[in-house]
Amino acid sequence: MLVIQVCVGSSCFLRGSKNVIAEIENLIEHYQLDDIVTLKGNFCFERCSDGVTVKIGEKVFTKVTGESIVDLFENEVFPAIYGVK
Ligand code: FES
Repeated sequence: MLVIQVCVGSSCFLRGSKNVIAEIENLIEHYQLDDIVTLKGNFCFERCSDGVTVKIGEKVFTKVTGESIVDLFENEVFPAIYGVK
């Protein structure tokens, strides 16, 4: 199980964490990853000025957008769950 956490603290929320969450939900549904990926909210990763902050497994990513999360799925999520890059 891979855990993806999206910051929903006030700074990240204002920078669009809602859009990032919506896109992650779409991707999880599209690729049928419900049993493999868990999406959670987090209230602050203390990277507020670099938000939206997302943690995939143990890696933290900043300045994530609804568009860039698609690349993060390709470059981080799929390799993490399938073991390939
Ligand atoms: S509000 Fe998102 S890292 Fe602090």
